[in-house]
Amino acid sequence: MYFIANWKMYGSLNSLNSVKKVIRLSKKKKFKRAKIIYCPPYTLLNDFSKLTKKTRIKTGAQNCHELEFAGPFTGSVSPHMISSIGVKYIIIGHSENRFLGDNNLIINKKIISSMNQKLKIIFCIGETIKERKENKTTYVLKKQIIMGLKNIKKIDNILFAYEPVWSIGSGIIPKINDLQNQFKMLKKFISNRFKYKNPTLIYGGSVNQKNVILLKQINEIKGFLVGGASQNSNKFIDIIKKTII
Ligand code: 13P
Repeated sequence: MYFIANWKMYGSLNSLNSVKKVIRLSKKKKFKRAKIIYCPPYTLLNDFSKLTKKTRIKTGAQNCHELEFAGPFTGSVSPHMISSIGVKYIIIGHSENRFLGDNNLIINKKIISSMNQKLKIIFCIGETIKERKENKTTYVLKKQIIMGLKNIKKIDNILFAYEPVWSIGSGIIPKINDLQNQFKMLKKFISNRFKYKNPTLIYGGSVNQKNVILLKQINEIKGFLVGGASQNSNKFIDIIKKTII
């Protein structure tokens, strides 16, 4: 099971201390199954990388520029820069970045550049509340996958993170039945399209220590992308413990 902490634009050097608790947990035999990945802001990536170097915890970036190496792009960070400091994962296609202008075409470029740098991709897809009300969810998700993964043949290094946009930060999760159907659809679609039997699917959106008990009952869900609750180590640990009993 994956437990991915997306810290978004939160966290300071002081936050590193609280992560030590999670490192201790990750060393326990019982939690060997937990694949924990921290995605802090760029400013903390190097520190996180060093802190977790000799542990089973991995680090990830939250976004990148579409160019692989370098260029005159003020404020941007390239996949090469990210991988060169020992970071193994990268979140691409998060709805918060789609809102800022990342369309499927740009997302596709970012994914290809990142894969060239041997980064594992946490590929976010999800429908808005408007799209859901218009019954376009399946159409939107398939389109995001088809366009985001254009010219990509192998998906062994891609985690598919289904995050309904309306569930992010709202405290609301989809009805478990609906979610189960959505995950079944996604699994079937991705397996057929990429001739890949067991794609890794995870869920994100208001995951907490309570609803994780329901969410983990969905067989297709192989982990969680956690925002708010991951910034508090006690809550994050609780989520891990409730999932892996
Ligand atoms: P919340 O867990 O705060 O809803 O955020 C989810 C998310 O966007 C993770 O990428």
